[in-house]
Amino acid sequence: MTLKDFFIGLSQNQLLNGMAKKYGLKLGAQSVVAGTNIKEMIESVKELNNHGISATIDNLGEFVTDKQDAIDAKNQILDVIEAIHDNNVNAHISLKATQLGLDIDYDFCFNNIKEIVSKANAYNIFINFDQEDYSHLAPTFQLLDELHKDYDNIGTVIQSYFYESRNNIERYKDYRLRIVKGAYKEPEELAFQGKQDIDENFINLIEYHLLHGKFTSIATHDHRIIDHVKQFVKENDIPADKFEFQMLYGFRRDLQLQLAKEGYHFCTYVPFGNDWFGYFMRRLAERPQNLNLMVKQVFNK
Ligand code: FDA
Repeated sequence: MTLKDFFIGLSQNQLLNGMAKKYGLKLGAQSVVAGTNIKEMIESVKELNNHGISATIDNLGEFVTDKQDAIDAKNQILDVIEAIHDNNVNAHISLKATQLGLDIDYDFCFNNIKEIVSKANAYNIFINFDQEDYSHLAPTFQLLDELHKDYDNIGTVIQSYFYESRNNIERYKDYRLRIVKGAYKEPEELAFQGKQDIDENFINLIEYHLLHGKFTSIATHDHRIIDHVKQFVKENDIPADKFEFQMLYGFRRDLQLQLAKEGYHFCTYVPFGNDWFGYFMRRLAERPQNLNLMVKQVFNK
Protein backbone atom coordinates (compact mmCIF):
# COMPACT_ATOMS: atom_id res chain seq x y z
CA MET A 1 0.00 0.00 0.00
CA THR A 2 1.39 3.43 -0.93
CA LEU A 3 1.21 6.51 1.28
CA LYS A 4 -1.34 7.89 -1.18
CA ASP A 5 -3.61 4.82 -0.77
CA PHE A 6 -3.20 5.07 3.00
CA PHE A 7 -4.45 8.68 3.18
CA ILE A 8 -7.26 8.07 0.68
CA GLY A 9 -8.33 5.14 2.88
CA LEU A 10 -8.34 7.41 5.94
CA SER A 11 -10.32 10.08 4.05
CA GLN A 12 -13.20 7.59 3.67
CA ASN A 13 -13.10 6.21 7.22
CA GLN A 14 -16.53 6.95 8.74
CA LEU A 15 -15.39 6.64 12.34
CA LEU A 16 -12.48 9.07 12.00
CA ASN A 17 -14.60 11.51 9.99
CA GLY A 18 -17.25 11.40 12.71
CA MET A 19 -14.73 11.92 15.52
CA ALA A 20 -12.98 14.79 13.76
CA LYS A 21 -16.27 16.74 13.52
CA LYS A 22 -16.48 16.92 17.30
CA TYR A 23 -13.03 18.31 17.95
CA GLY A 24 -12.75 21.33 15.66
CA LEU A 25 -9.88 21.94 13.24
CA LYS A 26 -6.83 19.93 14.28
CA LEU A 27 -3.59 18.41 12.90
CA GLY A 28 -2.78 21.54 10.86
CA ALA A 29 -6.09 21.53 8.99
CA GLN A 30 -6.59 25.15 10.08
CA SER A 31 -4.04 26.34 7.51
CA VAL A 32 -6.05 24.84 4.63
CA VAL A 33 -9.60 25.18 5.99
CA ALA A 34 -11.04 28.70 6.36
CA GLY A 35 -12.70 28.29 9.74
CA THR A 36 -15.63 26.29 11.03
CA ASN A 37 -18.41 28.85 10.57
CA ILE A 38 -19.79 31.31 7.98
CA LYS A 39 -18.49 34.39 9.78
CA GLU A 40 -14.87 33.18 9.76
CA MET A 41 -15.17 32.00 6.16
CA ILE A 42 -16.60 35.35 4.95
CA GLU A 43 -13.65 37.18 6.58
CA SER A 44 -11.24 34.96 4.59
CA VAL A 45 -13.17 35.62 1.38
CA LYS A 46 -13.08 39.38 1.97
CA GLU A 47 -9.32 39.20 2.38
CA LEU A 48 -8.98 37.29 -0.90
CA ASN A 49 -11.27 39.79 -2.65
CA ASN A 50 -9.03 42.61 -1.38
CA HIS A 51 -6.23 40.99 -3.40
CA GLY A 52 -8.40 40.76 -6.53
CA ILE A 53 -9.10 37.04 -5.99
CA SER A 54 -12.60 35.53 -6.12
CA ALA A 55 -13.67 32.48 -4.14
CA THR A 56 -15.55 29.25 -4.63
CA ILE A 57 -16.91 28.22 -1.26
CA ASP A 58 -17.18 24.61 -0.13
CA ASN A 59 -19.27 23.90 2.96
CA LEU A 60 -17.27 20.77 3.82
CA GLY A 61 -19.00 17.41 3.85
CA GLU A 62 -19.48 14.35 1.63
CA PHE A 63 -20.71 10.73 1.55
CA VAL A 64 -23.71 11.58 3.77
CA THR A 65 -25.99 8.63 4.57
CA ASP A 66 -28.49 10.26 6.94
CA LYS A 67 -31.39 12.28 5.52
CA GLN A 68 -31.29 14.89 8.28
CA ASP A 69 -27.55 15.46 7.70
CA ALA A 70 -28.26 16.11 4.01
CA ILE A 71 -31.05 18.56 4.89
CA ASP A 72 -28.78 20.33 7.39
CA ALA A 73 -26.09 20.61 4.69
CA LYS A 74 -28.61 22.05 2.25
CA ASN A 75 -29.71 24.64 4.82
CA GLN A 76 -26.11 25.59 5.56
CA ILE A 77 -25.42 26.11 1.84
CA LEU A 78 -28.56 28.25 1.56
CA ASP A 79 -27.17 30.34 4.44
CA VAL A 80 -23.84 30.66 2.62
CA ILE A 81 -25.65 31.95 -0.48
CA GLU A 82 -27.43 34.51 1.70
CA ALA A 83 -24.09 35.51 3.26
CA ILE A 84 -22.45 35.95 -0.17
CA HIS A 85 -25.34 38.21 -1.16
CA ASP A 86 -25.51 40.18 2.12
CA ASN A 87 -21.76 40.78 2.24
CA ASN A 88 -21.55 41.48 -1.48
CA VAL A 89 -18.41 39.35 -1.83
CA ASN A 90 -17.06 38.01 -5.11
CA ALA A 91 -17.76 34.33 -4.55
CA HIS A 92 -19.74 31.32 -5.74
CA ILE A 93 -20.47 27.83 -4.41
CA SER A 94 -18.90 24.41 -4.87
CA LEU A 95 -21.03 21.51 -3.67
CA LYS A 96 -20.83 17.73 -3.57
CA ALA A 97 -23.90 15.70 -4.50
CA THR A 98 -23.13 13.03 -1.89
CA GLN A 99 -23.35 15.70 0.81
CA LEU A 100 -26.87 16.45 -0.37
CA GLY A 101 -28.12 12.89 -0.33
CA LEU A 102 -27.02 11.24 -3.59
CA ASP A 103 -26.26 7.98 -1.75
CA ILE A 104 -29.67 8.08 -0.04
CA ASP A 105 -32.07 8.73 -2.91
CA TYR A 106 -31.59 10.43 -6.28
CA ASP A 107 -34.86 12.42 -6.21
CA PHE A 108 -34.26 13.58 -2.64
CA CYS A 109 -30.80 14.80 -3.68
CA PHE A 110 -32.18 16.39 -6.85
CA ASN A 111 -34.71 18.40 -4.85
CA ASN A 112 -32.09 19.55 -2.34
CA ILE A 113 -29.76 20.72 -5.09
CA LYS A 114 -32.61 22.31 -7.03
CA GLU A 115 -33.47 24.47 -4.03
CA ILE A 116 -29.86 25.60 -3.80
CA VAL A 117 -29.51 26.29 -7.52
CA SER A 118 -32.81 28.17 -7.62
CA LYS A 119 -31.89 30.47 -4.72
CA ALA A 120 -28.42 31.09 -6.15
CA ASN A 121 -29.93 31.82 -9.55
CA ALA A 122 -32.10 34.55 -8.03
CA TYR A 123 -28.89 36.23 -6.75
CA ASN A 124 -26.94 35.50 -9.93
CA ILE A 125 -24.55 33.19 -8.08
CA PHE A 126 -22.87 30.28 -9.88
CA ILE A 127 -22.99 26.73 -8.47
CA ASN A 128 -20.27 24.22 -9.28
CA PHE A 129 -21.01 20.51 -8.92
CA ASP A 130 -17.71 19.05 -7.70
CA GLN A 131 -16.93 15.58 -8.99
CA GLU A 132 -16.22 12.77 -6.56
CA ASP A 133 -15.28 9.14 -7.18
CA TYR A 134 -16.31 7.22 -10.32
CA SER A 135 -19.43 5.67 -8.81
CA HIS A 136 -20.93 9.18 -8.52
CA LEU A 137 -19.81 10.53 -11.89
CA ALA A 138 -22.78 9.54 -14.05
CA PRO A 139 -25.46 10.56 -11.51
CA THR A 140 -23.74 13.92 -10.96
CA PHE A 141 -23.82 14.56 -14.72
CA GLN A 142 -27.47 13.50 -14.70
CA LEU A 143 -28.28 16.04 -11.97
CA LEU A 144 -26.53 18.68 -14.05
CA ASP A 145 -28.38 17.71 -17.26
CA GLU A 146 -31.78 17.78 -15.58
CA LEU A 147 -31.22 21.07 -13.77
CA HIS A 148 -29.73 22.69 -16.85
CA LYS A 149 -33.16 22.52 -18.49
CA ASP A 150 -34.24 25.32 -16.11
CA TYR A 151 -31.01 26.93 -14.88
CA ASP A 152 -27.78 28.03 -16.51
CA ASN A 153 -25.91 29.12 -13.36
CA ILE A 154 -24.40 25.63 -13.02
CA GLY A 155 -21.31 23.78 -14.15
CA THR A 156 -19.10 20.90 -13.12
CA VAL A 157 -15.64 19.38 -13.01
CA ILE A 158 -13.80 17.22 -15.53
CA GLN A 159 -11.22 14.86 -13.99
CA SER A 160 -8.33 14.29 -16.39
CA TYR A 161 -7.43 10.82 -15.10
CA PHE A 162 -10.62 9.27 -16.54
CA TYR A 163 -10.40 7.90 -20.09
CA GLU A 164 -13.99 9.01 -20.71
CA SER A 165 -13.24 12.65 -19.88
CA ARG A 166 -12.43 13.36 -23.53
CA ASN A 167 -16.05 12.52 -24.45
CA ASN A 168 -17.39 14.45 -21.50
CA ILE A 169 -15.49 17.61 -22.32
CA GLU A 170 -16.98 17.60 -25.81
CA ARG A 171 -20.44 16.83 -24.50
CA TYR A 172 -20.29 19.61 -21.90
CA LYS A 173 -18.53 22.26 -23.95
CA ASP A 174 -21.39 24.73 -23.46
CA TYR A 175 -20.89 24.65 -19.70
CA ARG A 176 -18.54 26.48 -17.44
CA LEU A 177 -16.10 23.71 -16.47
CA ARG A 178 -13.36 23.27 -13.91
CA ILE A 179 -10.65 20.94 -15.16
CA VAL A 180 -8.53 19.03 -12.63
CA LYS A 181 -6.20 16.03 -12.54
CA GLY A 182 -8.51 13.98 -10.24
CA ALA A 183 -8.21 13.28 -6.51
CA TYR A 184 -9.65 9.79 -5.88
CA LYS A 185 -8.22 6.31 -6.25
CA GLU A 186 -9.57 4.82 -9.46
CA PRO A 187 -8.80 1.48 -11.16
CA GLU A 188 -6.72 1.04 -14.28
CA GLU A 189 -9.81 0.01 -16.31
CA LEU A 190 -11.22 3.52 -15.84
CA ALA A 191 -8.37 5.91 -15.32
CA PHE A 192 -4.79 6.74 -16.24
CA GLN A 193 -2.46 5.86 -13.34
CA GLY A 194 0.80 7.53 -14.36
CA LYS A 195 1.58 11.21 -13.80
CA GLN A 196 2.75 11.74 -17.37
CA ASP A 197 -0.44 10.31 -18.93
CA ILE A 198 -2.65 12.31 -16.56
CA ASP A 199 -0.73 15.54 -17.21
CA GLU A 200 -0.92 15.00 -20.98
CA ASN A 201 -4.66 14.43 -20.87
CA PHE A 202 -5.05 17.41 -18.52
CA ILE A 203 -3.37 19.69 -21.06
CA ASN A 204 -5.42 18.28 -23.96
CA LEU A 205 -8.69 18.81 -22.09
CA ILE A 206 -7.75 22.33 -21.00
CA GLU A 207 -6.77 23.30 -24.55
CA TYR A 208 -9.99 21.84 -25.98
CA HIS A 209 -12.20 23.75 -23.57
CA LEU A 210 -10.24 26.99 -23.93
CA LEU A 211 -10.74 26.82 -27.71
CA HIS A 212 -14.31 25.50 -27.85
CA GLY A 213 -15.88 25.84 -24.42
CA LYS A 214 -17.87 28.44 -22.53
CA PHE A 215 -15.51 29.20 -19.63
CA THR A 216 -12.54 27.25 -18.27
CA SER A 217 -11.33 27.05 -14.69
CA ILE A 218 -7.84 25.56 -14.68
CA ALA A 219 -7.54 24.10 -11.18
CA THR A 220 -4.00 23.07 -10.33
CA HIS A 221 -0.99 23.95 -8.18
CA ASP A 222 1.32 22.68 -10.90
CA HIS A 223 3.37 25.66 -12.15
CA ARG A 224 4.40 23.70 -15.27
CA ILE A 225 0.76 23.34 -16.35
CA ILE A 226 0.08 26.99 -15.46
CA ASP A 227 3.06 28.17 -17.53
CA HIS A 228 1.87 26.06 -20.45
CA VAL A 229 -1.62 27.58 -20.24
CA LYS A 230 -0.23 31.12 -20.07
CA GLN A 231 1.64 30.49 -23.32
CA PHE A 232 -1.32 28.75 -24.97
CA VAL A 233 -3.82 31.55 -24.25
CA LYS A 234 -1.32 34.09 -25.58
CA GLU A 235 -0.71 32.19 -28.81
CA ASN A 236 -4.41 31.56 -29.37
CA ASP A 237 -5.74 34.97 -28.35
CA ILE A 238 -8.02 33.52 -25.68
CA PRO A 239 -9.64 36.52 -23.95
CA ALA A 240 -8.89 36.95 -20.24
CA ASP A 241 -12.58 36.70 -19.33
CA LYS A 242 -12.87 33.19 -20.83
CA PHE A 243 -10.77 31.46 -18.19
CA GLU A 244 -9.38 31.59 -14.68
CA PHE A 245 -6.84 29.75 -12.59
CA GLN A 246 -7.97 28.07 -9.38
CA MET A 247 -6.06 26.73 -6.38
CA LEU A 248 -7.03 25.50 -2.95
CA TYR A 249 -7.07 27.79 0.06
CA GLY A 250 -3.75 27.77 1.91
CA PHE A 251 -1.68 26.28 -0.94
CA ARG A 252 0.99 28.20 -2.91
CA ARG A 253 -0.34 31.51 -1.62
CA ASP A 254 2.52 33.47 -3.21
CA LEU A 255 1.76 32.01 -6.62
CA GLN A 256 -1.96 32.74 -6.17
CA LEU A 257 -1.21 36.39 -5.41
CA GLN A 258 1.32 36.63 -8.22
CA LEU A 259 -1.10 35.30 -10.87
CA ALA A 260 -3.79 37.73 -9.70
CA LYS A 261 -1.24 40.55 -9.82
CA GLU A 262 -0.26 39.57 -13.36
CA GLY A 263 -3.89 40.26 -14.33
CA TYR A 264 -5.22 36.70 -14.65
CA HIS A 265 -8.63 35.94 -13.22
CA PHE A 266 -7.95 33.91 -10.11
CA CYS A 267 -10.35 31.99 -7.87
CA THR A 268 -9.46 30.30 -4.59
CA TYR A 269 -11.35 27.21 -3.44
CA VAL A 270 -12.34 28.02 0.15
CA PRO A 271 -13.43 25.05 2.26
CA PHE A 272 -14.92 25.64 5.70
CA GLY A 273 -16.88 23.77 8.36
CA ASN A 274 -16.34 21.00 10.87
CA ASP A 275 -16.49 18.09 8.38
CA TRP A 276 -12.85 18.69 7.38
CA PHE A 277 -11.18 15.30 7.88
CA GLY A 278 -11.84 13.65 4.48
CA TYR A 279 -10.84 16.80 2.61
CA PHE A 280 -7.63 17.17 4.63
CA MET A 281 -6.64 13.51 4.18
CA ARG A 282 -7.05 13.82 0.38
CA ARG A 283 -4.69 16.80 0.42
CA LEU A 284 -2.12 14.66 2.28
CA ALA A 285 -2.62 11.87 -0.27
CA GLU A 286 -1.90 14.24 -3.15
CA ARG A 287 1.21 15.69 -1.66
CA PRO A 288 2.90 13.96 1.26
CA GLN A 289 4.94 17.16 1.77
CA ASN A 290 1.68 18.54 3.17
CA LEU A 291 2.46 16.35 6.14
CA ASN A 292 4.69 19.25 7.18
CA LEU A 293 1.51 21.14 8.04
CA MET A 294 0.51 18.35 10.37
CA VAL A 295 3.90 17.80 11.94
CA LYS A 296 4.46 21.52 12.61
CA GLN A 297 1.05 21.76 14.22
CA VAL A 298 1.55 18.73 16.45
CA PHE A 299 4.94 19.97 17.70
CA ASN A 300 3.92 23.61 18.12
CA LYS A 301 1.52 22.69 20.88
P1 FDA B 1 0.10 17.87 -8.36
O1 FDA B 1 -0.30 17.54 -6.96
O2 FDA B 1 0.08 16.79 -9.40
O3 FDA B 1 1.51 18.54 -8.31
C1 FDA B 1 2.28 18.75 -9.49
C2 FDA B 1 3.50 19.56 -9.15
O4 FDA B 1 3.13 20.89 -8.77
C3 FDA B 1 4.31 19.01 -7.97
O5 FDA B 1 5.17 17.99 -8.37
C4 FDA B 1 5.03 20.27 -7.50
O6 FDA B 1 6.13 20.55 -8.32
C5 FDA B 1 3.97 21.36 -7.73
N1 FDA B 1 3.16 21.59 -6.52
C6 FDA B 1 1.96 21.06 -6.25
N2 FDA B 1 1.50 21.49 -5.06
C7 FDA B 1 2.44 22.30 -4.57
C8 FDA B 1 2.57 23.05 -3.36
N3 FDA B 1 1.61 23.05 -2.43
N4 FDA B 1 3.68 23.78 -3.18
C9 FDA B 1 4.68 23.79 -4.11
N5 FDA B 1 4.60 23.09 -5.28
C10 FDA B 1 3.52 22.36 -5.49
N6 FDA B 1 -10.41 16.76 -7.66
C11 FDA B 1 -11.52 16.01 -7.93
O7 FDA B 1 -11.42 14.80 -8.14
N7 FDA B 1 -12.75 16.63 -7.97
C12 FDA B 1 -12.91 17.97 -7.79
O8 FDA B 1 -14.05 18.47 -7.86
C13 FDA B 1 -11.74 18.75 -7.52
N8 FDA B 1 -11.82 20.11 -7.32
C14 FDA B 1 -10.66 20.84 -7.19
C15 FDA B 1 -10.71 22.24 -7.12
C16 FDA B 1 -9.54 22.99 -7.05
C17 FDA B 1 -9.61 24.48 -7.01
C18 FDA B 1 -8.26 22.33 -7.07
C19 FDA B 1 -6.97 23.10 -7.05
C20 FDA B 1 -8.22 20.95 -7.11
C21 FDA B 1 -9.39 20.20 -7.15
N9 FDA B 1 -9.34 18.81 -7.19
C22 FDA B 1 -10.49 18.10 -7.46
C23 FDA B 1 -8.06 18.10 -6.85
C24 FDA B 1 -7.28 17.74 -8.09
O9 FDA B 1 -7.91 16.71 -8.79
C25 FDA B 1 -5.86 17.28 -7.73
O10 FDA B 1 -5.95 16.11 -6.96
C26 FDA B 1 -5.04 18.29 -6.95
O11 FDA B 1 -5.23 19.59 -7.42
C27 FDA B 1 -3.52 17.94 -7.04
O12 FDA B 1 -3.07 18.06 -8.35
P2 FDA B 1 -2.32 19.38 -8.89
O13 FDA B 1 -2.79 19.58 -10.29
O14 FDA B 1 -2.59 20.53 -7.99
O15 FDA B 1 -0.78 19.10 -8.92
